[in-house]
Amino acid sequence: MIYMDNAATSWPKPEPVYAAVLSCMRKYGANPGRSGHRMAVEAGNILLYTREMLCQLFSIENPFRMIFTMNATESLNLAIKGCVRPGDHVVSTSMEHNSVARPLKELEKWDVATTYVKADSQGRIDPDDIRRAIRSNTRLIVTTHASNVTGTLVPLGEIGKIAREYGILYLVDAAQTAGIIPIDLSQLPVDMMAMPGHKGLLGPQGTGVLYIAPHVTLNQLKEGGTGSQSESLEQPDFLPDRYEAGTMNTPGIAGLGAGINFILRNGQNRLLSRTSRIEKFFLEALLHIPGIKVYGPTKMEERIGVISINIKDFDSTYISNLLDKKYGIAVRGAIHCAPLAHKTIGTLKQGTVRFSPGIFNTLDEVKICIKVLEQLTRL
Ligand code: ALA
Repeated sequence: MIYMDNAATSWPKPEPVYAAVLSCMRKYGANPGRSGHRMAVEAGNILLYTREMLCQLFSIENPFRMIFTMNATESLNLAIKGCVRPGDHVVSTSMEHNSVARPLKELEKWDVATTYVKADSQGRIDPDDIRRAIRSNTRLIVTTHASNVTGTLVPLGEIGKIAREYGILYLVDAAQTAGIIPIDLSQLPVDMMAMPGHKGLLGPQGTGVLYIAPHVTLNQLKEGGTGSQSESLEQPDFLPDRYEAGTMNTPGIAGLGAGINFILRNGQNRLLSRTSRIEKFFLEALLHIPGIKVYGPTKMEERIGVISINIKDFDSTYISNLLDKKYGIAVRGAIHCAPLAHKTIGTLKQGTVRFSPGIFNTLDEVKICIKVLEQLTRL
């Protein structure tokens, strides 16, 4: 199988990730922060270790500002619903995933209005349009860092600067970039960043993170046991306990720590430049094949390696099934849980065939994909 579906979840994982999950389950799989015995302490230590890995990768000092969740969707729900109040206004973009658009839709029932700034046909957002969308009651700006449909990058720095100017919170959905593109949270004007643990950060599924800047306080979405202040019926108000009710996914988080450690040890820039070289080769080859339509920017500087295409008028599900069954190539077809983005680029009906290489894909695998796609244009 040639796995080209890393935008959905990265696979395979580095060997130390599998080893860390197994070791946690076999050797010290107790409940962190609850009982005081040595296994529980070791389980607690692995949570701290993974938070520290996250701090190193994103240049943050306080590990307790890194909140563990189940996935980027849970992180986004906590960030959005934790700060927005009835009567507020939110600015977002027409490139968002349903993990942003659906919580915002739900909030309409609570008298929260949203303005979706429209991207151009390649998925690019003009920060001036964000500025123009701001109202006196705008509480939050939320944008993706890179579209999961077109790969188009959003200018976080410029948008964050606008948010700061108006005293509005800026939340970034880094589902497609965390672990892949270097992000320095000590420099960027970003107040919250949601990320999955199981994509670019190379951890197992069932792991996610929300970074919350020191000046931001959110309402929690759930209450329950934390192992701290157990005598009280109130949810603790300190971090991370306030937002981490219930038993944690300790084996998953152990694997996530190993995934981030792998990135740090191998050098994020080194991994990125290797993968970008392959993706650039892929993109440029596809742009020259008649019968293939490539979506998103044509220059690698404006995008990441999430490459959506269509072959003539063929249904994208038909092509992706063919790639799987006949050629052993795993991609995602149809609508990628982002109807707003598909509407923006005109693929709401056809969907797209999405290739998303990862750090373990090779140039030879990309060459096979190109050859197969060339063949399919002759269908
Ligand atoms: N959000 C993930 C994707 O784009 C699952 O495929």
